[in-house]
Amino acid sequence: TFVLQGVFKRFPLRMVHGVPLMKPIAQNWQRIEEFQARTDDLLIAAYPKAGTTWIQEIVDLINNGGDVLKARRAPIHNRIPFLEICSPKPFPSGVNILQKTPSPRTIKTHLPFQLVPKSFWKLNCKTIYVARNAKDCVVSFYHFDKMNMMQPEPGSWHEYLQNFMEEKLSWGSWYDHVRGYWDEKDKQRILYMFYEDIKEDPAREIRKVMHFLEKDLDEEVLQKIVHHTCFQVMRENPMANYTSLPSFILDHSISPFMRKGEVGNWKHHFTVAQNEAFDAHYQHKMMGTTLAFRAEI
Ligand code: A3P
Repeated sequence: TFVLQGVFKRFPLRMVHGVPLMKPIAQNWQRIEEFQARTDDLLIAAYPKAGTTWIQEIVDLINNGGDVLKARRAPIHNRIPFLEICSPKPFPSGVNILQKTPSPRTIKTHLPFQLVPKSFWKLNCKTIYVARNAKDCVVSFYHFDKMNMMQPEPGSWHEYLQNFMEEKLSWGSWYDHVRGYWDEKDKQRILYMFYEDIKEDPAREIRKVMHFLEKDLDEEVLQKIVHHTCFQVMRENPMANYTSLPSFILDHSISPFMRKGEVGNWKHHFTVAQNEAFDAHYQHKMMGTTLAFRAEI
């Protein structure tokens, strides 16, 4: 562990086609760009902290017919590999792992639409996109960057919020991310979901995922999936809560990965002045789109 510990550090960000990404990802960019999708791949895409893990767990349970033991076969990051992730040697990259993964594969990505390897769209692969309101996203990301030892130091909350608005955080602009997939959702096979909707009525939203995956599960199985993917249960599930990673990568003593799981937690972080400045800037960035978010339910 000591030797491995030494190779992990907070990586600086490097620009890739105008999007800041962790340096190891930028260095491996050509292999990511040339990644070969397969027709039966399912892509799970989201801006960081939008509920990626939540959808991953839901999809894995649906694909396993609601079998909770099967879903506990391995940690979530092994069950559903992370396309662009690159850790220092000797760890294999997401691309390496995926090349050896038998079909049908489910693949996680945080890449904005325009950076997703083109082969996914050429093959018309299914994609589930999950979006979360900007304010809860940035709060969640701030706490995550404090505990994720591969990401740059977040600095103060005020600085962090500024960097989010200036689109300088890892994986780039939240505004472009949510709008990019929204604009493509009717041209590609994209199921566009909202964190707030899942929170409001998980059964309704899980049913949508089920239909999208063309799986027909009994109401009883659906209810079981609702239960096993609720925040309280996922928080205690070592195969879903990221506690299986060593603390030199994710330090849960700083902030647990499963932190709050709420809609509206941003209200405990934004000052009145920050909220006003954010709203004005937001209105400008989101002008002309039909995409609308709820920051409370
Ligand atoms: P908070 O930091 O607000 O608690 P991602 O998986 O995209 O990194 O997103 C992580 C965020 O989703 C965290 O938000 C986490 O707590 C929340 N989350 C994960 N599983 C959840 C669940 N079952 N219900 C509600 N929120 C969940």
